[in-house]
Amino acid sequence: MAKILIADDDPTILSLLNKILLSKGYEVQLASHGGEAEKLLKTEQFDLLISDIKMEPVDGMQLLKRTRQLRPHVGAIMLTAYATVATAVEAMKEGAFDYIPKPFKIDELLETVKRALDYQKSMSQQISNTGYIETKKYFGNIVAESDEMIKVCEMIKRVAPTKTTIMITGESGTGKELVAEAVHSFSARSEGPFLPVNCAALPETLIESELFGHTKGAFTGASTEKVGLFEAARGGTLFLDEINSIPHGLQSKLLRAIQNKKIRKVGGTEEFDVDVRILAASNRNLETMVKEGSFREDLFYRLSVISIDIPPLKTRPEDILPLAQHFIAQEIEGGEFPSMDNAVLSILQNYTWPGNVRELQNVIQHCLTFLLDGKITKDTLPSKLIVSYEENPGAQAAALSGEFERGKSLKAFLRVKEKEYLKTVIDTMGGDKVAAAKELDISLATLYRKLPEEQQDS
Ligand SMILES: Nc1ncnc2c1ncn2[C@@H]1O[C@H](COP(=O)(O)OP(=O)(O)OP(=O)(O)O)[C@@H](O)[C@H]1O
Ligand SMILES: [Mg+2]
Repeated sequence: MAKILIADDDPTILSLLNKILLSKGYEVQLASHGGEAEKLLKTEQFDLLISDIKMEPVDGMQLLKRTRQLRPHVGAIMLTAYATVATAVEAMKEGAFDYIPKPFKIDELLETVKRALDYQKSMSQQISNTGYIETKKYFGNIVAESDEMIKVCEMIKRVAPTKTTIMITGESGTGKELVAEAVHSFSARSEGPFLPVNCAALPETLIESELFGHTKGAFTGASTEKVGLFEAARGGTLFLDEINSIPHGLQSKLLRAIQNKKIRKVGGTEEFDVDVRILAASNRNLETMVKEGSFREDLFYRLSVISIDIPPLKTRPEDILPLAQHFIAQEIEGGEFPSMDNAVLSILQNYTWPGNVRELQNVIQHCLTFLLDGKITKDTLPSKLIVSYEENPGAQAAALSGEFERGKSLKAFLRVKEKEYLKTVIDTMGGDKVAAAKELDISLATLYRKLPEEQQDS
């Protein structure tokens, strides 16, 4: 049974809560102020903290902060008098699960306790005692926890051993190059070279000689013979990144190289064989370019025999924490893992990640540079994440409709509508609460908090 720590300087409340929770089978420990609670937290394991906000000498907010540092996996419910609701909201920003205004109804309290514990349980499958994921899954160097990324990995496994050309698509920073590398390393060519080349970075006049090489004296400045990338990648894989930047005039020559596996150097007269597997990526929609006439249709079809599409990070929130952990491990190189606040986890999961995985990697580097007492806290995050989190208005009950009912306050009406809307979204997502929370643009914790009890396990 769950173990709950209660901190309140009012002995009546302490004994009342003690009685209620014991009667429901919970294990309970009592503390009459924050300092006493902190001592217990250090020596014993708890699942949940219920704490008053106003206490002397160590108050509930200080206790909450200490709990987040000492035991990031312990959920917290704050008790507050109406006058301090603003502080309670502040407490939630600090990572408290919920707050209960005093005086409270016993049923309400028990329901919130149950929700908080359910939420902790669902998170604990992912989060270890130090606040990190335990179930990190790798495929090669690719962290893949979400179904979407697992599908990508399965696709890699299936197509890597074949000889086909593969088109890898995805927003900037989603991991296209990483996937290309994985295709290479799971193919029979893994002993050969893997050469990534960014076509956009090559000056247009030099692309041809970079790709195919040139003979001595082929053009002004060609003082020696040059080996091109196709030749250099022999027996291996050539990854043509941003292939959309290949000038139209060169596209037919590229097509010939891929189709016939023969190339001719700039200035050369003879064609010779090159055994290279081509993988390509584009940051523009090639189909659109074909329609516009700026990309050859035959080349497009030759390149996209098989395509692997990597979804944006925001559509696969399950990958965020494992990736964060992966980047931390990379950075600290076997050093001590810093702890991470629940507030940080929640901010990371609610951000939209326009720069995808690369942006997450940069954010983690930022956090590690600005570590506070060896911990990743909200203050170590780049300010754009905080701003975006605070501007997030939460779920809006959409399509408010309904008949007028006498005696029903606006708040009560909104609450009913909100619950209906939550149910609709969860049902639409096939019961997947993580996806529903994403769709609603709220954190998983908020979703659980708002959920009617009967829907929590369904
Ligand atoms: N699933 C993942 N697991 C581990 N690391 C990842 C994953 N996805 C991306 N990365 C890392 O994120 C960074 C960006 O990935 P990568 O360079 O492959 O993206 P990209 O799609 O090629 O980006 P761009 O479009 O900007 O070229 C790299 O450091 C890469 O190792
Ligand atoms: Mg790239």
